[in-house]
Amino acid sequence: MSALNSAVVTGAASGIGRAIATRLHQDGRAVVLVDVDPDALSTAAAELGAAVATVVGDVADPSTHHHALAAAVELGHLDAWVNCAGITRSHPLPTLSPADAGPIIDANLYGTLWGTRTAVAHWVGCAEPGAIVNISSVHGRRAYPDHAVYEMTKAAIEALTRNVGVSYAAARIRANAVAPGAIRTPALDDSIASAVDPVAAAAELTEFIPAGRLGDSAEVAAVVAFLLSDQASYLTAQTIVVDGAMTAHIGFDPDPNAKRPQ
Ligand SMILES: NC(=O)c1ccc[n+]([C@@H]2O[C@H](COP(=O)([O-])OP(=O)(O)OC[C@H]3O[C@@H](n4cnc5c(N)ncnc54)[C@H](O)[C@@H]3O)[C@@H](O)[C@H]2O)c1
Repeated sequence: MSALNSAVVTGAASGIGRAIATRLHQDGRAVVLVDVDPDALSTAAAELGAAVATVVGDVADPSTHHHALAAAVELGHLDAWVNCAGITRSHPLPTLSPADAGPIIDANLYGTLWGTRTAVAHWVGCAEPGAIVNISSVHGRRAYPDHAVYEMTKAAIEALTRNVGVSYAAARIRANAVAPGAIRTPALDDSIASAVDPVAAAAELTEFIPAGRLGDSAEVAAVVAFLLSDQASYLTAQTIVVDGAMTAHIGFDPDPNAKRPQ
């Protein structure tokens, strides 16, 4: 049997998923990178080098996860599964169509559900089970106009994670979610660039983050790595928010003359 532990990371060709795959690989795991974008996936895999496999596929298709599982078992002892693939789109509810909602629900909700199911099915009854981290969002518990479908999928991811954490705690399978705030990734850059005034949009976003800056995807990856490690052995069924205090913030200053430390 291989001495390596292995991990599956979906959405690993870009942004947060890519940073998570990089971090887990740096920590000594073999990594299976899963993504629907074959070119970006090849680039990400080439950057990591050895002990890497790729699976090109849509996470909404359960067979994508079966291929990922087979590749991970081939590389080592699978002890970590991260469902990060997702898309962020906004639509006004009154004109929302099935064609608008479907891709968001498929990628975010079904993608996470089938990945989680595959990992749990593999680990139930296993002598050395592993841990799951699902990527939610601050939108899982907070609302922003026109993000109803995205927020519905992220709230569902947190519910799924909580249920798995409870249902399989006795089987020693841990499941946690990470809810990032505004993290600098290609997806966030695209969303800012599509605003009517991108400079104003970036400034407005930062203004509501007490940390005074966007997050880095490596900062999310570090929390994911911790949750997957034995250091977090008693931590399960939770959602950890990584947002520079954005969602803890009241959002307006009741005393606008108050001086805050810089
Ligand atoms: N960037 C942020 O500020 C932020 C904040 C909160 C949550 N998130 C979440 O983090 C995750 C990653 O976001 P990101 O900003 O890194 O985005 P990103 O677009 O940079 O990366 C997402 C990756 O997922 C892949 N993907 C999308 N749909 C897929 C599918 N159906 N099957 C397989 N792969 C698919 C894409 O090809 C891409 O490589 C998402 O779940 C997103 O909701 C991001």
